[in-house]
Amino acid sequence: MKITLDQEGCIGCGLCAGISPELFAMDDTTGKAFVKQEDISGGQESEANEAADSCPVSVIAVG
Ligand code: F3S
Repeated sequence: MKITLDQEGCIGCGLCAGISPELFAMDDTTGKAFVKQEDISGGQESEANEAADSCPVSVIAVG
């Protein structure tokens, strides 16, 4: 499983990093999120999906 995040569309709400600080972090310079760990294991899938579902602009994809 892989996480992708379209940084261009990110509005910097910070939800993803709040839900999963292990997988996402905020870039202090751009104010946008980035993926800390692109390849995830099965145990991390639900957290990744929760972050993807919570993103208000739906720029996170898990697959
Ligand atoms: Fe950006 Fe969505 Fe995360 S807007 S900060 S990618 S929840």
